[in-house]
Amino acid sequence: MAIEVVRIGQRLVRDDRVTTHVALVSRSFGARRIYMTEVNPEIKDTIQKINSTWGGDFEVVFVDNSQSIIKRRKKEGFKVVHLSMYGQSINCIQGDIQAESDLLIIVGARKVPREIYELADYNVGVGGQPHSEISALAVLLDRIQDGRQFDLEFPNAKQRIIPAKSGKNVQLR
Ligand SMILES: C[S@@+](CC[C@H](N)C(=O)[O-])C[C@H]1O[C@@H](n2cnc3c(N)ncnc32)[C@H](O)[C@@H]1O
Repeated sequence: MAIEVVRIGQRLVRDDRVTTHVALVSRSFGARRIYMTEVNPEIKDTIQKINSTWGGDFEVVFVDNSQSIIKRRKKEGFKVVHLSMYGQSINCIQGDIQAESDLLIIVGARKVPREIYELADYNVGVGGQPHSEISALAVLLDRIQDGRQFDLEFPNAKQRIIPAKSGKNVQLR
């Protein structure tokens, strides 16, 4: 299963840290790429440094128009999952999403345009209360992959963590 993420509607500066965390969750929970507009270009350096130390080739891709990439991926067969508290409960829909092959997941920041709801194959609520795009994305990615994302190998890592009952065990490579 290929998983990609689109971050829409972020506000420059104000949302920079949240957007960076959306990217970090995407990377560490098994997505291969995030698309975003209107961001602080430093996010690319931040993620590149994480890749260099912890491995993998997760990509940050800046786009002029997020709807173009959504439409393109749909044509290529990706199913579009839009995270929204107004959507269908994840508890009811997670089996259907797990059965799909390639997914493009949309997370918002401010009010999401109606067209996004219409473009989505699944509008998914992680509960019916407002919370955070970071938490909604993490829960969705975990439900889709049943925890298998935590067993992923990140190639060419300079270091990796050996889980320890106490203290820190970091293996240098
Ligand atoms: C802080 S919320 C703002 C939502 C905005 N007020 C709206 O009406 O679309 C930012 C993003 O977090 C995600 N989100 C927040 N709560 C959620 C929930 N309960 N289920 C799914 N996604 C959620 C959605 O992707 C949403 O676009």
